[in-house]
This record gives sequence, C-alpha cells and structure tokens, in this order.
Amino acid sequence: MSVKLAVVGATGSVGREILVSLAEADLVPAANVVALASDRSVGSEVSFGEDDDLTVQALNGFDFAGIDYAFFAIDARTAKKEVKRAVEAGAMVIDCSDAFRLEPGVPLVVPGVNDAALGQMKKNICANPSALAILLACVLKPLQAAVPIKRVVVSSYQPVSGAGRQAMDELFTQTRGVYVNDLPTKEHFPKQIAFNVIPQVGAFESDGYTEEEATLAGETRKLVGPDIALTATCVRVPVFIGQAAAVTVEFEGALTATAARDLWKKTPGLSVIDHRADEGYVTPVESAGDDLVFVSRIRDDKTVPHGISFWCVTDNTRKGGGLNAVQILESLLKARKKK
Ligand SMILES: NC(=O)c1ccc[n+]([C@@H]2O[C@H](COP(=O)([O-])OP(=O)(O)OC[C@H]3O[C@@H](n4cnc5c(N)ncnc54)[C@H](OP(=O)(O)O)[C@@H]3O)[C@@H](O)[C@H]2O)c1
Repeated sequence: MSVKLAVVGATGSVGREILVSLAEADLVPAANVVALASDRSVGSEVSFGEDDDLTVQALNGFDFAGIDYAFFAIDARTAKKEVKRAVEAGAMVIDCSDAFRLEPGVPLVVPGVNDAALGQMKKNICANPSALAILLACVLKPLQAAVPIKRVVVSSYQPVSGAGRQAMDELFTQTRGVYVNDLPTKEHFPKQIAFNVIPQVGAFESDGYTEEEATLAGETRKLVGPDIALTATCVRVPVFIGQAAAVTVEFEGALTATAARDLWKKTPGLSVIDHRADEGYVTPVESAGDDLVFVSRIRDDKTVPHGISFWCVTDNTRKGGGLNAVQILESLLKARKKK
C-alpha cells in the first residue's frame, strides 16, 4: 500500500520525533513524506531515518491534495485553522495539539488503550493526547479494566520539552546564566525554571486550576472511563525530557498494590521497575529515548479502604508524543487494509 504523508511542524520537538518513529516503523519511503513548517524554516533539512533528509516546505499555501494522512505538530491556534484546510483537501489528520482533543466526533487515541475509538471518527481528525494524559492512560487502563476507578490524585513533574524547542533553549540559557552571574531572562515560563520548579502549566482558569490540569481530567475521562474523578497539580521542573507523575488511585472495590503490579507486568508497553532500594525506580533521565512507560514505587495507600500510590514516567517526545501519533497511523492503515 503506497500512501503519501505530510508532517506539519517537522522542525519542532514532536515533529522530529514523528519523523524518527515513522522511519523506524518503515511504513513509507522518504519520497512519500513531505516536511512542512513555518516560512522561517523553508529550505532547511530534517532527517528521515539514518539515510534520508527532507527539505522543509512552507505550510502557508501548501496544497494538501494527494496527501492521505497529515500529522500536525504545531500550536493549537494555527492547527485550528490549518487542519480544516488539510481535511477539506482530502487528508486524514492526526493532530498533536489540544485544539480538538475534547471535541465530540474526534477520537482521542492511545493505541493499546482505546483503539476502538478510531471507529467513531466523524470529521477525519484524530487527536493525539497530551504527554501526561498518555502516561496516565497507559497505567490507569489495566487497573480500570480490573476494578472501576473512583478517584485519581496526580502531581506531575513536567519537562521543559513539553513546552517546545524554544522552552528547552530557555532552560539551557538560564542554567548557564546562573553560573556566570548573568540574571536569567524569562520568555516561555512565568518564573525562572533553572534550579527551580513552577506550579503552573498553562493559563489559570476561574476555578483556580490551570488549563493543563483541567484538560488532563477531560482527556483521562475520554481515554479511560467517563466516571473517573481526577484532581491534578501540574508542575514544570528543570528536566529536558521525561514526563513523570506521582499518582494515588482510589478504587470502587478491592485492588492491592500487589495485584496492580501483576496487572502492569502483563500489559504490553509497560515496564515495572520497582525494587524497594536505592536505584530501584526509573527517573525521567533514564526514560529518555525509550518507548516504554515505567512504573515504580508501587505501594498500598493506607489512608483509604481500596487505594494505591505509585510513580510513573515516560519519554514525552516518544510514547508521550511522536511515537503515539505514529502508532495511531499504524492502526488507521491496518483498518484501511481490512476494508
Ligand atoms: N513536546 C511534547 O511533549 C508534546 C507532546 C504532545 C503534544 N504536544 C503538542 O504538539 C505541538 C508541537 O509541540 P512541540 O513541542 O513540537 O513544539 P515546538 O518544538 O515549538 O515546534 C513547533 C513547530 O511548529 C512550527 N510552526 C510554528 N508556527 C507555525 C506556523 N505558523 N506555520 C507552520 N508551522 C509553524 C515550527 O516551525 P518553525 O521551526 O519553522 O518555527 C515547529 O516545527 C504543540 O501543540 C504541543 O502542545 C507536545
């Protein structure tokens, strides 16, 4: 089957990981992939696998006719406008921004968690969840399938790469600035991120939650179960790659930490690294470059009748971003073959 693909935002963190995962999956030759970005990047090159480079073209004015599938890895405001243009030209879109994630008729998909949702696509748009929602969906789904989840409390530790390439530069520049006594300047984050943590990801809403915290609750309900109550505190930390969370789950019935560990051990894509000793858990740095979701620090929550607490982490640009988007394409191609 020969399909033509476009990757919009090919020069960004997620776009580049989409190209890496696409080349690794060996779904199409480089000649069938178009790399698009802003006018600033026209003519520059991005790698596609070890042997090929793609010359970046402008999204502005690009004609999507003949493109079968288009990945969008750009900001939500531009995506809202440009995704519709791609769909009208006949492309099926996998969008990585938060523009369409909670829209009815747009499946929000984590392959391996809720593949069947792809069958409910109404607008030729499928949404890739946030890195944090992907991480949570992967760990919560096997638990929810065993015993319904009542309530989830999440504290996230979010890397700067989740805010894009320029945000990574800001952590680097600020860190260097602190060492040479050059006061850090702020552009992407509301406070200094080097040698600090910031309890704000996204803008504040009127109820005191941030956008990231509010959409996490909505995305988790769409991915895992509509009745799950979830409260989150999302925190940006001075880490480049690796989305981590400390999670406490309360269940409707009995499910122990031992039972949860056994369920996770049987789940593809998850790795349980949980030794009650120094080094017996996985940190963000160790998750970088890996496709797995790691679960550690699994224990019973002794404050409620049925509850557990644990730590989980994944590479936000791989399973938390580009890889998940490519896995969605693989599922769509499989469904197309069956037709
Ligand atoms: N990073 C993550 O962990 C993650 C995970 C899941 C989802 N997401 C979402 O994915 C999207 C991309 O995130 P990112 O981290 O990859 O951002 P990024 O590193 O800042 O990259 C942004 C990309 O968008 C392009 N772009 C910006 N304005 C454009 C325009 N007007 N027209 C065409 N292209 C334009 C940029 O091109 P130039 O290089 O030419 O400026 C660049 O390729 C965001 O919506 C983000 O929320 C991110």
